[in-house]
Amino acid sequence: MSHPLFHRGRRLRSSAQIRDMVRDTAPLLAEDLIMPYFVVETDDQSFRKEISAMPGQYQLSLGELEKQVEKAVDNGLKSVILFGIPAQKDEKASGAYAEDGIVQEAVRRLKHRWPDLYVITDVCLCEYMSHGHCGVLTPGGVVLNDPTLPLLAKTAVSHAAAGADMVAPSDMMDGRVAAIRAALDEAGLVMVPIMSYAVKYASAFYGPFREAAESAPSCGDRKAYQMDPGNRREALIEALADVEEGADALIVKPAGPYLDILREVRDAVDLPLCAYQVSGEYSMIRAAGLNGWINEEAVMLESLLGMKRAGARMLITYFSETLLEKRLVR
Ligand code: PBG
Repeated sequence: MSHPLFHRGRRLRSSAQIRDMVRDTAPLLAEDLIMPYFVVETDDQSFRKEISAMPGQYQLSLGELEKQVEKAVDNGLKSVILFGIPAQKDEKASGAYAEDGIVQEAVRRLKHRWPDLYVITDVCLCEYMSHGHCGVLTPGGVVLNDPTLPLLAKTAVSHAAAGADMVAPSDMMDGRVAAIRAALDEAGLVMVPIMSYAVKYASAFYGPFREAAESAPSCGDRKAYQMDPGNRREALIEALADVEEGADALIVKPAGPYLDILREVRDAVDLPLCAYQVSGEYSMIRAAGLNGWINEEAVMLESLLGMKRAGARMLITYFSETLLEKRLVR
């Protein structure tokens, strides 16, 4: 099937979970929260390792992921986003689109156990590439755009085929939303929405994540594909391009230092909007909290309230579990 010329508005109406998640209203609710998890491919089913730069966050085996999610679901968690750490990395990111890859297995586990849990997958290659870049690399260290697109499309299709409710491409290659949409449709997965990291800056705030996901580039940086932090109007170009290509929802990332961008995108685009409170934002609030320098719970809530005020509806935040456990959201 080719890329359809009509709007599939029903993708985001297909279940009570996603309707709750995209409804256009304000206060902090359990259904706003999307909790990220780092799943490790390992034979050691009791593997659980705290991420030193993100106290309270862990790399988890499949078995430990299930335990962790069980507690969170009992506390009211409705949605997760998964990141994988494969046993092997190579130059073509094979683990990203392997049928029995770590994210694919994690999706199957979670959807089997909790069919109503809304499972989103991060679609990127950096965790699976030996060099840690988000796309195919030339010997000279250039990340090639177009040759990366089929790999991203394969990855998204394999996630959706494993049962993912939604795919979220975070790689910042040009044209990837169209490529992923076409591949999903071709595979008959027409109802799987794409939430694209449309506006993603080359940010130092991702530092702790790269320890968590073991995805730091071994050479260079991501500035040749992620956005320049000095650019505001470019955010609208990126957002509108992804709308054109068929995205169903958009992410702005990081969130806290880019609230102006969130607001601009909210005013310019009518798709549901998600703010990603990234690892560095989490770590700074946590560190100050652990030192007793701030009221951590209050700051946590205020930081997220700011994102909603700026126009975000969904919030990807490492505080999701805590907010629910401490009954800080409705
Ligand atoms: C993968 C990806 C990254 C994050 C989400 N997806 C890292 C990066 O782009 O370097 C960052 C998330 C965070 O910092 O919490 N490309």
